[in-house]
Amino acid sequence: KILILDFGSQYTQLIARRVREAHVYCELHPFDMEFSAIRAFAPSGIILSGGPMSVYEPGAPAVAEELFELGVPVLGICYGMQLMSLHFGGEVVPAGKREFGHAELVACGHPGMLYDGFFAEGKSPVWMSHGDHVSVVPPGFEVVAQTANAPVCAIQDEQRRLYGVQFHPEVNHTPRGEIFIDTFVRKVCGCSGQWTPGKIIEDAVARIRHDVGTERVILGLSGGVDSSVAAALIHRAIGDQLTCVFVDNGLLRLAEGDQVMATFAENLGVKVIRVNAEERFLAALAGESDPERKRKIIGGLFVEIFDEESSRIQDACWLAQGTIYPDVIESAGAKTGKAHNIKSHHNVGGLPEHMKLKLLEPLRELFKDEVRSIGEELGLPHQMVWRHPFPGPGLGVRILGEVKKEYADILRQADAIYIEELYSSGHYHKISQAFAVFLPVKSVGVMGDGRTYEYVVALRAVETKDFMTAGWYPLPYEDLARISGRIINEVKGINRVVYDISSKPPATIEWE
Ligand code: XMP
Repeated sequence: KILILDFGSQYTQLIARRVREAHVYCELHPFDMEFSAIRAFAPSGIILSGGPMSVYEPGAPAVAEELFELGVPVLGICYGMQLMSLHFGGEVVPAGKREFGHAELVACGHPGMLYDGFFAEGKSPVWMSHGDHVSVVPPGFEVVAQTANAPVCAIQDEQRRLYGVQFHPEVNHTPRGEIFIDTFVRKVCGCSGQWTPGKIIEDAVARIRHDVGTERVILGLSGGVDSSVAAALIHRAIGDQLTCVFVDNGLLRLAEGDQVMATFAENLGVKVIRVNAEERFLAALAGESDPERKRKIIGGLFVEIFDEESSRIQDACWLAQGTIYPDVIESAGAKTGKAHNIKSHHNVGGLPEHMKLKLLEPLRELFKDEVRSIGEELGLPHQMVWRHPFPGPGLGVRILGEVKKEYADILRQADAIYIEELYSSGHYHKISQAFAVFLPVKSVGVMGDGRTYEYVVALRAVETKDFMTAGWYPLPYEDLARISGRIINEVKGINRVVYDISSKPPATIEWE
């Protein structure tokens, strides 16, 4: 297994994902992890991430220096390389100008085991993002490659198995970066690549059985990817000891409630209690048009209903949740005070305090793509596993202003047509998130011989990596024309469709 120490780079999670894609287990920890904890973790190799600081700045983050004496391979990326160079007696200086973007890496020494497969005819395109660079190579190290702006762009000491790169092998803009990280973890560090979906499931099943024993577990199933995969996994481990509570709040997508029941109760044989709570939610939301208060009402009522239902389940000892790795990684950015923004949305479900349940989180160590691949391996439908994210408050934040059943019904139909068309035209999987929004304004139209006076639907589709910034998706005119035509013809109550061309920021992805 590999240890990644985070110095606050926005790319650190990508390093971890690349390592996992090489089927090697890794963990990501803040740079100041205690040396005793590092030793206890017993890594086969260590990767030091990039970071926004300069190694010479006062208070610049540093690592427990003993880690260089562990005798395991260390790869420093960007800031990590500079830190390592400084430690071993090299020098780091500010580059003439900040470099950000594509560059061509040119081999200038003997490539050795790590760099061998990285170059094609002595070259490899790479992605750079740095202000400082190494000017004097530490004793014992050799320069392996350079770029026009960074004469020392890749270094190594093969004997001590220490490596440093100024470029970012973890980002997609470095096309052969995947090979580079794969070579580091498997060849240089000797990890065997056993972290496969089958093995992840096997380990998780064993752990769940061990922890839970013969006790009972409850889980709030929402139909989203994370809670669905958690349910399927726990069911595989302990069968009927698991009971799922599925609160249908009436704000789900078309036929979603029935699909959840078909997948879990009928196909997988999971015990699911479906609570049809549409009326309670609509009653609680009546007259309320403030977005934040709507969110609070929906979240609060969910907890209340979940609590009511689960307290009826005799001797439940565990509450299972679909928490995933990005939710639990402690951010180094927060420690250096140069944090990238941290997403603050919380997942559904508060722990009913008085029930004193123990928490079961079998996906805590997994990235979203791993959650998806084990979901498929567990037999969940492809469409469910690869579905775009859907917010906890559901259509409650996609109906602007006051929520009414009439609006929700109209929106569900329009949204279903939109999504169906995105699937059939092949756009769905290129888009990060797409949905329709109901606008409670009426406009005039004409249909046949008659005048219409009906509502507006807005279509949203965005591309994003992290949902913190997003660009609108350039859906071709002919697709827009077909979707708009179908919605206006097929959905009673809509006579106008508009396409949202705002990026985030300054707009957000959802309209409320
Ligand atoms: P925004 O609208 O903030 O959305 O750009 C970013 C991502 O978060 C989702 N989202 C939510 N998810 N509860 C959730 O579980 C919420 O209250 C919530 N609000 C927004 C949104 O769908 C997008 O993926």
